Amino acid sequence: MTNVVQSLSDFFATLGLTTVLIFVTVLLISLWMLSSRNPRVNWPPGPVCFPVVGCLPQLMISGRRRQPTDLLPWYDTYGNIMHIKLGEQHMIMLGTYELIQEAFVKNAATVSARPTWVYYIRRLVGKDGAGVIFKNGHAWKELRRFTLSSLRDFGLGRKSLQEKIQDEARYLVQNIEDENGKAFSPRDRIGKAVSNIISIVVFGARYDYEDTPEMLSVLEESVRLNKGGPLAFTNLARLLFPKKKFVLMDELYILIRQEVKRHRQSFDPTDIRDFIDLYIKVTQERLDPEIFTDWNVFRIIVDLYLAGTDTTANALRWSLVHMVNHPDVQKRVQKEIDQVIGQGRVAKMEDKASMSFTEATILEVFRMSTVVPMGGPHATSESTTLAGYTIPKDTIILGDLYRVLHDKNNFEDPYKFKPERWLDGDGKVIKSDKMIPFSIGPRICLGKGLAEMESFIFFTTLLQNFTFKVPEGDNPPNGVEGLHAITFSPHDYNVCTVRR
Ligand code: HEM
Repeated sequence: MTNVVQSLSDFFATLGLTTVLIFVTVLLISLWMLSSRNPRVNWPPGPVCFPVVGCLPQLMISGRRRQPTDLLPWYDTYGNIMHIKLGEQHMIMLGTYELIQEAFVKNAATVSARPTWVYYIRRLVGKDGAGVIFKNGHAWKELRRFTLSSLRDFGLGRKSLQEKIQDEARYLVQNIEDENGKAFSPRDRIGKAVSNIISIVVFGARYDYEDTPEMLSVLEESVRLNKGGPLAFTNLARLLFPKKKFVLMDELYILIRQEVKRHRQSFDPTDIRDFIDLYIKVTQERLDPEIFTDWNVFRIIVDLYLAGTDTTANALRWSLVHMVNHPDVQKRVQKEIDQVIGQGRVAKMEDKASMSFTEATILEVFRMSTVVPMGGPHATSESTTLAGYTIPKDTIILGDLYRVLHDKNNFEDPYKFKPERWLDGDGKVIKSDKMIPFSIGPRICLGKGLAEMESFIFFTTLLQNFTFKVPEGDNPPNGVEGLHAITFSPHDYNVCTVRR
């Protein structure tokens, strides 16, 4: 081996710098020609692709501010459907509701896969995918159905999920009360409250805000490491991605296995306490042993944390940003809470029907601060026609939900926070098919119902108990810009509260 390396370096030394440069240039051009547009594929317009790296340089430059608005000017140049090459991977971005509907609903049969072949995903879940988020075909449909039915309010333990969310909202109020009106950052405590709901669903337990068990800290860290941006879709991730992520996943698997073992010891088929009990039941019934495997259940647990914590938590974090920036809206929501709920009990979902302004306010938070701006990555499982273009199999498809929710043709003054836009002349809530923060089609967010319940109960309970304000001397938090890293979170901010 040493001899080969030595001979190669001797060979290049004899060539001289110019010859080596010419050699490298020819090699790169050949690679480009081999890897660039297949002449038989008529890709939609998009930025120029370079050899090996594709459009990554332009993406890095345009996307450096990490805002969901970063790529909006590209649509003006290339049109509503864009072709972008990430390294060797072809990707299509869809910038209007009509295109997303054509892809995710009309062509759902061929555009509902996930790109499980890309290095990063394959390394995490294996080439056949696993769980719900990263599974395809028949097994995905079965696992999705199973997870949805377990999330439905069928009574986890003795209390319903709604009651557990109400309890958690009370804990959150108590925790904020301990600040005694001093300025504080709501970020972490909102995160803990929301992740407790998933812990209750999965493990049947909640944790004190100060006392995070090992499993949750490992999970939280792996979620934190998940923010790869466009690089995650390329083979370059092989070189650049933190290896730690994969080590953490192994650790997590061991911890979850221990939890499943503990559940098995106290398992009672007549008292299903949580998701793990339900899984034990399903595996004992041997419904479909190929699908209900340990690995798939482990991944569903990770999926629920991955998809169900940062999203809902960011929606709540944004809701406080908008409340401190719009005290008039906050007052109107509180007036409605006082009329419908009063101070004697916690909100329940049935109240929502009589609280149009509160519902409109939550809708406006979901719209204005789109917490999953680009949705989840879809992929074509077969060649598919979109907007007249033939898109080959194994192309990644992203629906730009942020652009749809900030398109002035869909929503007037899209960067203004205006809950009234959701109310008609009679004060009733207007439904809009363009309102797609949870995406559309068969891949639509599996936790939509849970996210809506959590948002309503947490938000109303917070405003029932406190008036939120910008601390004296602080600048109001930014209501438009934040950090876009798969999810969209507000920049860190402090608030202070006045007890009501
Ligand atoms: C405000 C809160 C939330 C928002 C805005 C949101 C949004 C989304 C979006 C845009 C997707 C991608 C859909 C697609 O690929 O087309 C998604 C997928 C998903 N979400 Fe949510 N989500 C939220 C909360 C939750 C919660 C609380 C859970 C869990 C309980 C959850 C579980 C999932 C799962 C499992 C998927 C993957 C579905 C699949 O691949 O079949 N989400 N969500």
